[in-house]
Amino acid sequence: MKEMSFPVVHRQELLLILLCMILNGSSANAQRPNIVFFLTDDQDVALGGQTPMTKTKSLLGDKGIIFNNMFVTSPLCCPSRSSILSGRYVHNHKGFNNSLEGGCSDIHWQQTQEPTAFPAILKAQGYTTFFAGKYLNQYGFPKSGGVEHIPPGWDWWTGLVGNSQYYGYSLSVNGTLEKHGDNYKKDYLTDLIYRHATEFLRFQTKDHPFFMMLSTPACHAPFTPAPQYENNYANMSAPRTASYNVKAEDKHWLIRQAIVPMPNDTVKSSDDIFRNRWRTLLSVDDMVESVLMQLQDKGLLDNTYLFFSSDNGFHLGQFGLPSDKRQLYDFDIRVPLMVRGPGITPGQVSEQIILNIDFSPTFIELTGGQIPKDIDGISMVPILKKNTSTPLQNIFLVEHYGEYEMAISGCPQYKDQYMANCNGHCVCEDSRNNTYGCVIQITDASSFKYCKMEDLEFRTRIQLDQDGPKQPIKTELFL
Ligand SMILES: *[C@@H]1O[C@H](CO)[C@@H](O)[C@H](O)[C@H]1NC(C)=O
Ligand SMILES: *[C@@H]1O[C@H](CO)[C@@H](O)[C@H](O)[C@H]1NC(C)=O
Ligand SMILES: *[C@@H]1O[C@H](CO)[C@@H](O)[C@H](O)[C@H]1NC(C)=O
Ligand SMILES: *[C@@H]1O[C@H](CO)[C@@H](O)[C@H](O)[C@H]1NC(C)=O
Ligand SMILES: *[C@@H]1O[C@H](CO)[C@@H](O)[C@H](O)[C@H]1NC(C)=O
Ligand SMILES: *[C@@H]1O[C@H](CO)[C@@H](O)[C@H](O)[C@H]1NC(C)=O
Repeated sequence: MKEMSFPVVHRQELLLILLCMILNGSSANAQRPNIVFFLTDDQDVALGGQTPMTKTKSLLGDKGIIFNNMFVTSPLCCPSRSSILSGRYVHNHKGFNNSLEGGCSDIHWQQTQEPTAFPAILKAQGYTTFFAGKYLNQYGFPKSGGVEHIPPGWDWWTGLVGNSQYYGYSLSVNGTLEKHGDNYKKDYLTDLIYRHATEFLRFQTKDHPFFMMLSTPACHAPFTPAPQYENNYANMSAPRTASYNVKAEDKHWLIRQAIVPMPNDTVKSSDDIFRNRWRTLLSVDDMVESVLMQLQDKGLLDNTYLFFSSDNGFHLGQFGLPSDKRQLYDFDIRVPLMVRGPGITPGQVSEQIILNIDFSPTFIELTGGQIPKDIDGISMVPILKKNTSTPLQNIFLVEHYGEYEMAISGCPQYKDQYMANCNGHCVCEDSRNNTYGCVIQITDASSFKYCKMEDLEFRTRIQLDQDGPKQPIKTELFL
């Protein structure tokens, strides 16, 4: 870090400067940009997860930058979301898995991370802040402080209790419990997030900057589409990618346990999931369009950055794994990123590597705040505002701490085997020894991915990229 040096300012000048700042308060504020951050749940890139979102692409991506190399540093909801908020790798924020004991929204997180997460810093910068949707998987339960706990920094707070749902959920609305049923018009969560956003936007003017985070349940399980989209994509099925239904003898232990070829009912259910995921995203696409239109109607669009991304990817049949995330491959770690806003030249496609830990420093820099020194992410502002083509970063870490249970009901072979997320055929998507750290380097000349598994085989594997220079990394068949 560079030493800061302040010019000597005399007392009278200081008073004058202060006076000017007070008088100019509202116009200085008027120049600071607003930010809207759309965050989806479990939306992949590798299986065409962005395809249904045609309006978002044309209104947001095509009017700004579409990033081809956006990665999460942990392919699981709570760890990744904790990284998005804090700007830190999992081993630093210590939200290791989706449960309270694993540090998801627990007291340690609330005491050590929330006070320096970007919402608190934006609030200190004078921003009006709005949150609606899924926060962290353990949010809102008695052991994590209940619905009364509003994370520091948020003015308008609509936090989903627990994990993604579309109906029949509970919310914390500004700290008060609100229960929802199964009536589409009243309760469908993606639409409700939009209605709360509309209400918030009604109060916003050019005089005061704001930050909004719209965090949808789509396209996470239980994959419930809105009624008007229930029958879309009826003739489509999960893409048969290069690793779809491929027996992976050279992969680590957990992946070798998959049944390949997949039983027919597994194929059918992963195809059903594929269609329903896309259907849920149609409601998100509507929401993005409507928010954008409202910003335009109010004359706020020109001074607003819009970010669209997801917390982790997803797989459906790759290496015979039926449907989940948590793996170190491209399908689970690569996610969408589109950004539009003032100073961004429209129509760009960028190969720059961006990580989930980069959102926090980016938002802080855009709003004029001080980026905490001890965070891991770096700001993408030079790419957004100055077209910087020099790589901001070319090496990063992906880490996962495998989840497990002592016994899986219906799977006697996995008694005392520390597995988790098993389907009806006892194909399990996670295990205690699916714990790993991967270093990934991507440069024009060569790319590699080096992973170390926490298992008895204790294998380390390394493979060089065969795609040649300047290609975005393709890790589907890596390792
Ligand atoms: C939530 O709090 C904000 C900020 O105080 C307030 O403007 C808004 O009306 C509240 N929302 C509800 C539904 O009470
Ligand atoms: C699905 O149906 C649409 C319209 O009915 C058609 O355009 C498309 O080619 C079909 N796709 C497949 C994979 O059959
Ligand atoms: C599974 O599906 C394939 C292709 O549709 C079919 O040939 C096969 O007979 C089915 N297997 C069973 C056990 O139903
Ligand atoms: C970025 O590139 C575009 C087109 O290449 C150009 O019009 C614009 O002025 C550039 N912006 C900056 C800040 O250099
Ligand atoms: C999450 O991590 C904690 C701490 O390591 C562990 O005790 C717990 O069993 C983990 N939860 C699951 C579901 O694996
Ligand atoms: C992974 O853990 C399971 C369950 O404890 C065990 O059976 C298996 O041998 C382990 N595999 C490796 C490679 O360590």
